[in-house]
Amino acid sequence: MSEIFALVPAAGCGSRMGSELPKQYLQLAGQPMIYHALLTLCASSDVKTVFVVLAPHDMYWHGYDWSLFGDKLQPLFCGGATRAESVLNGLMAAELELDDWLLVHDAARPCLSHKQLAHLIEVSRDDEVGGILAVPVADTLKRADAECRIVQTENREGVWQAQTPQMFRTGLLLQALRSAPNVTDDASAVEALGFHPKLVTSSASNFKVTYPQDIELAELLLANRK
Ligand code: CTP
Ligand code: MG
Repeated sequence: MSEIFALVPAAGCGSRMGSELPKQYLQLAGQPMIYHALLTLCASSDVKTVFVVLAPHDMYWHGYDWSLFGDKLQPLFCGGATRAESVLNGLMAAELELDDWLLVHDAARPCLSHKQLAHLIEVSRDDEVGGILAVPVADTLKRADAECRIVQTENREGVWQAQTPQMFRTGLLLQALRSAPNVTDDASAVEALGFHPKLVTSSASNFKVTYPQDIELAELLLANRK
């Protein structure tokens, strides 16, 4: 029986956040941001181990107490120059079986709920390719020129925003990321091999904390959950 693992890339520097501390360590509802996603992943009885991919010279990880998560949480100091490289390095270091499932989840999505995670696992584990959490685009889409003037309105029919976790078999993801190293999410690499991952409906609450103004919204959502 193949097992399910999680891998959290957390080797970025958060340049759009503009803080000196990498954004995954910024205080959010009383904890470093990454803590919240780890709590949700580690709480899932479907998930065997949660690997965290950190920068090779990460100076912050050991400054926090992770003992709550016990052996279920495994840090790997092998992050790369891009998200895709961090995921690939982590996959190779984790030494999983090729048919094990892997959930890749951004450290910067602290508001992932237990329900969203369980739904993704339930749908994807029976899928031949795998699946990702995503939301259908609700707003009207505009194409802009260099002066921020509207060039045209894009058709949003059938357009979805990709989130994480993204769940694939380890072997497929290894092959995909090795042949498409410049992707911004895992599904893109799998798509480049000609596969069509399943879109599993999520909600806007599982957004990625990217800019300073996102912190307040994430804190509100987390406070509301308690
Ligand atoms: N990530 C990573 N290794 C990198 C770049 C990003 O592990 N070389 C991780 C981030 O830590 C984050 C996730 O990938 O958890 C999603 O990336 P993003 O939100 O873009 O974070 P950053 O790259 O850190 O932010 P920015 O793009 O603003 O610099
Ligand atoms: Mg980035």
